[in-house]
Amino acid sequence: MIMTDLPFDPDSVAPLLLDWYGRAGRNLPWRNSRDPYRIWLSEIMLQQTTVAAVIGYYQRFLENFPSVEPLAAAPLEAVIDLWAGLGYYARARNLHAAAKIVVEEFAGCFPESVDELQQLPGVGRSTAGAIAALAFDKRAPILDGNVRRILCRLFAWQEPPRSTAADKQLWWWAERLTPQQQVHDYTQAIMDLGAILCLPRKPRCEQCPLQQLCQARTSGLEQQLPLKQTSKKLPVRHEIALLLEWQGRYLVRRRAVSGFLGGLWEFPTLGLAADELPEQKVALLLADFSVTGTAQPLGSITHIYSHFRLELQLLRVSIAELSTVAEGETDWCTIAQLNELALHGAHKKALGKLGE
Ligand code: ADE
Repeated sequence: MIMTDLPFDPDSVAPLLLDWYGRAGRNLPWRNSRDPYRIWLSEIMLQQTTVAAVIGYYQRFLENFPSVEPLAAAPLEAVIDLWAGLGYYARARNLHAAAKIVVEEFAGCFPESVDELQQLPGVGRSTAGAIAALAFDKRAPILDGNVRRILCRLFAWQEPPRSTAADKQLWWWAERLTPQQQVHDYTQAIMDLGAILCLPRKPRCEQCPLQQLCQARTSGLEQQLPLKQTSKKLPVRHEIALLLEWQGRYLVRRRAVSGFLGGLWEFPTLGLAADELPEQKVALLLADFSVTGTAQPLGSITHIYSHFRLELQLLRVSIAELSTVAEGETDWCTIAQLNELALHGAHKKALGKLGE
């Protein structure tokens, strides 16, 4: 059940936030533009990623793809390679798919309504709200991770922050607080509040324009809220990655463009049943690559995906003799080149072990 009684006048929030934003808001490259392409691109890049990490990518991306048409026309691999290092590569695939839809179905013009924006791959309700508010000044609420935290504190929400019930309540509050006018600035302001003051740990309440209203603050709960989300137990998958080294270079291959982690680069990998011994499979894989050499264990890493936990053993194999290498898109890279490559997250971590 949604709580509709409010502990303060909801219309007092926007003026306080806007006043603070006028004094303390950040000047970010995408903020001087109302171009929906630029705003959409920045919003996708900023999902689960900090402003500091995004700025360079955003500028480089615009140099390569100044509008939606060249992005839609580019091969997916080029988009993924430009995204290298930013992580969460499903965003790059969705970005490319959405660009094609905008060009083919909307004649290159982004739709303005939240409903239509939400039809684009990678654009959820909050991102659609952000684009509608920032590009078209529509009265559309947002509820990204930062706003969720702000609202949990402002209304002292004492339940886990992510559940169907929490979603309903938090969206209702988000909607209620969104003003009729100056939605563009209000949206940027609430994002900045989450990034600058209402921090996950050690919120800076004494500087907060909403401190008098904040129910967590007035109850001394600002450090406790939002409550920690209990994590679910994930199934475990075991794999071995082979770091095949030949004259200071390592073999990598590109995963098929369609499918899980599609288009990303990785070290050759094989799956293992939980109790399976790796030696035989490793020998087969080496034969597959027509190489001989000695294997040296480099330890293991754990990587969490949304639907399983990966336990990845690492084996470095110094290749004595190289003849042909298996088909598919493969390359031999130095460590410096590997650092620039769109390796998927688990194998990016593996790279850390090479330098140890
Ligand atoms: N996080 C998500 N969108 C943002 C934006 N437009 N500015 C700053 N941080 C953000």
